[in-house]
Amino acid sequence: MSEASLYERLGGAEGIAAITEDIWGNHTSNPLVQNRYAKSDPEHVKKQVRDFFGAGTGGSENYTGDDMLTAHTGMNINDQEFNGVVDDVLKALKSNGIGDKEHDEVLAILYSMKGDIVGV
Ligand code: HEM
Repeated sequence: MSEASLYERLGGAEGIAAITEDIWGNHTSNPLVQNRYAKSDPEHVKKQVRDFFGAGTGGSENYTGDDMLTAHTGMNINDQEFNGVVDDVLKALKSNGIGDKEHDEVLAILYSMKGDIVGV
């Protein structure tokens, strides 16, 4: 029996859209990171995040944004901010009823990108 993709287990396009709304809400109310997004266009960022998340978990979305190194180079993001963003994502999974297994898989994916995001 083959297991459903992480994309499917997150609820597909609809589930990821709902998770992304909550990630954005968490970022903009998180004092550790909210200033980073002060000049962002919410609809643009949410579209990029939906496509990135979807494409990275097994969906058919086409992510057209920058790779993580290019997107974050020059921002000088520190560990505390990285953990803040990760916490916002994990909270959003929880508020959407996503289970522990998926939580751990997403956490591992986020940590795998840390070197392209922190201190670059
Ligand atoms: C594993 C963690 C992270 C992932 C997966 C991620 C993902 C992304 C993606 C997909 C974009 C869009 C790139 C584009 O439009 O070409 C982006 C942009 C951005 N990220 Fe991250 N990011 C992460 C961590 C962080 C952290 C820790 C910060 C700072 C607190 C941060 C701040 C930003 C900002 C300010 C932008 C630009 C938003 C805009 O277009 O206005 N990111 N990120």
